[in-house]
Amino acid sequence: MSDQEKSVGVLGAGTMGSGIAIVSARAGFKTILVERDKETLDKGLDLIDRFFVKSVKKGKMTPEQKDLVMKKNLIGTLKYEDLTDCEFVIEAVFEDLETKKQVFCQANEVCPPETIFASNTSTLSVTSIAADSGRPDRTIGVHFCLPAQVMKLVEVTRGIQTSDETYDRTMEFGKKLNQVFVTTVETPGFILNHFIVAFNNSCIKAYEEGLASVEDIDKAIKLGLGYPMGPFELLDYIGMDTQLQVSLALFEQVQDQRFWPPPLVRRMVDAGHLGRKTGKGFYEYKGAGMFGA
Ligand SMILES: NC(=O)c1ccc[n+]([C@@H]2O[C@H](COP(=O)([O-])OP(=O)(O)OC[C@H]3O[C@@H](n4cnc5c(N)ncnc54)[C@H](O)[C@@H]3O)[C@@H](O)[C@H]2O)c1
Repeated sequence: MSDQEKSVGVLGAGTMGSGIAIVSARAGFKTILVERDKETLDKGLDLIDRFFVKSVKKGKMTPEQKDLVMKKNLIGTLKYEDLTDCEFVIEAVFEDLETKKQVFCQANEVCPPETIFASNTSTLSVTSIAADSGRPDRTIGVHFCLPAQVMKLVEVTRGIQTSDETYDRTMEFGKKLNQVFVTTVETPGFILNHFIVAFNNSCIKAYEEGLASVEDIDKAIKLGLGYPMGPFELLDYIGMDTQLQVSLALFEQVQDQRFWPPPLVRRMVDAGHLGRKTGKGFYEYKGAGMFGA
């Protein structure tokens, strides 16, 4: 684990923000995790701590390394003013254009001019997010995969105004994070969501229509196609609220029926059966938490 010189800001301590903060702190960056309320921040920090406890148990890091990461590298805060030393600020707040614009505006007021703003958006236009950031040439898309702390891949997307320097610095940053950065053009869903959102919706529809049980569809996809996770196991990680949001956002942009969410998606959201984050989705999770077993 190297000691990186500059700090990294992460906005939002939800599913993705917590995972991205793990990646950054584990790579040796001082990582400033910003939330909007204390309860959510504490929940995110607790998830991160539990992840590192598991890493120690599995022998992937020593207790001393865990202490270094949790006590020295990771700082949770509610104040945007704590972002002043950041080389990169990565936002992982709700998939909503106004929220993303607002958090970058707040960061722009406190960050030095050279700080790069990176958006973890799955479906929104990087150009639109960048337009009101106060630094459109230094704003870029970096789409981490779920769970970010486990998956190596990150899709990098330039907005129309993103400069060559911003792109080059971002690709270098990827190496320091120990992630694999691939480049996509700015298109709804980039590479991964272009396939996976439609695939997951077709699995939900097949289940609704009575094709097979959740468990058997997952088994078939894993054992027959060699996928590491079944679609319903993955959806419980993604969250049904997120699945609904990304499906609607993609459908609105490309009008392709494959992206239209089947009725069960809304019903599960209405019932609060969002997946691991609420303890119940297609499966039940008793006391396991987001990153638990
Ligand atoms: N869940 C996925 O599978 C996945 C995968 C890749 C990318 N993404 C993208 O990552 C982003 C976050 O998704 P998520 O699933 O982590 O959502 P989430 O709902 O789990 O977390 C979002 C967090 O942002 C916080 N937040 C909202 N406004 C804020 C503000 N003004 N300042 C600080 N924090 C604020 C919320 O309190 C919440 O904790 C979205 O853009 C989503 O499209 C999600």
